[in-house]
Amino acid sequence: MSLNPKVDGIRSPRVSQAVKLRPATPDDLELLQFWDRQPQVIAAKGDDDWQWKTELARHTDWREQLIAEVGGRPIGFVEIIDPSCEESQYWGCIDEGHRAIDIWIGERDALGRGYGTQMMKQAIARCFADPSVKAILVDPLDCNDRAHRFYERLGFEYVAGRCFGDDRCIVYRLSRPGSPAANA
Ligand SMILES: CC(C)(COP(=O)(O)OP(=O)(O)OC[C@H]1O[C@@H](n2cnc3c(N)ncnc32)[C@H](O)[C@@H]1OP(=O)(O)O)[C@@H](O)C(=O)NCCC(=O)NCCS
Repeated sequence: MSLNPKVDGIRSPRVSQAVKLRPATPDDLELLQFWDRQPQVIAAKGDDDWQWKTELARHTDWREQLIAEVGGRPIGFVEIIDPSCEESQYWGCIDEGHRAIDIWIGERDALGRGYGTQMMKQAIARCFADPSVKAILVDPLDCNDRAHRFYERLGFEYVAGRCFGDDRCIVYRLSRPGSPAANA
């Protein structure tokens, strides 16, 4: 029996290599701008200008901007914020003890191969490594059914539909494992 998928022709699209998250730097500017033009990214976040040039050069204590790499190749982006401190107050009035995550894969050939799941699991672990964090929020667009399924598989629970500016979104929440809210 051969175990070589190339020989057998049964290469699984879901077999994936390990993903590493590293801090984004100003050197990632062109990459992030390129990803902003990819259809799956536009479909998920519209054409909002994230002011990469300014933001990549700026360090704050309420945000982590991370590049996901597979075998040294950058494939996607994750941002983790503390929504109670974030300057634009995007999430409105919110208690301390939350984190909010944005995620996208910019390289189209890296979609649907399990990398997003790895990225999210690592981002979740980073959030809950801080013992004061009780829950993580995400806000996919109302129409992004695949992202809803993605978050639900990771354990996120529907909270409510909500408009952020002109965007109709669904808010999902993941409570700290073992907390009363998670066991409810
Ligand atoms: C959402 C996303 C990060 C998931 O990463 P991924 O590596 O593609 O996903 P995985 O292989 O780990 O898991 C597969 C699941 O991801 C989701 N997914 C896959 N491709 C997707 C796409 N183009 N758009 C949205 N979700 C997608 C689906 O739930 C899929 O499961 P399904 O095949 O049953 O529909 C990635 O698909 C992506 O960047 N999509 C575009 C941007 C986006 O929607 N970001 C979330 C906005 S809040």
